[in-house]
Amino acid sequence: MPTAHPLCKVSEMPPGSRKLVTIGGRDIGVFRLEDGRFFGLRNRCPHRGAPLCAGRLMGLVTAERPYQLVRQREGEILRCPWHGWEFDLTTGRSVFMPEGVRVKSYPVRVQDAPEPAVDKFDVTESEGIVVLWIE
Ligand code: FES
Repeated sequence: MPTAHPLCKVSEMPPGSRKLVTIGGRDIGVFRLEDGRFFGLRNRCPHRGAPLCAGRLMGLVTAERPYQLVRQREGEILRCPWHGWEFDLTTGRSVFMPEGVRVKSYPVRVQDAPEPAVDKFDVTESEGIVVLWIE
């Protein structure tokens, strides 16, 4: 059964930011994209174990015809800092082997601050809390 882990106030994670947390011995990167969406990924590259969430966020470059490159999904692709493997931040799947290689992903939601979180994070009840869900 998934358990909720309140992380911080929404205002503490502006668009384009990331936060590294350790919960139950798992290192997890929580990202807020420029458009406001949140995602969580295990901070361990499946190739050689690099701290994946320290990697650069970039877009996807595709080409339907030679020399006609199209940039899309800017900021949704996470590039491993060691050898450059790329992962879709929204699913955890490898860009080049989406069916065979993936990183564990975790749902991250903004929720109204429940009673205990109001005290813990010093928020008003109307301010949202960033909550990571782990199974
Ligand atoms: S450790 Fe990530 S690509 Fe090699």
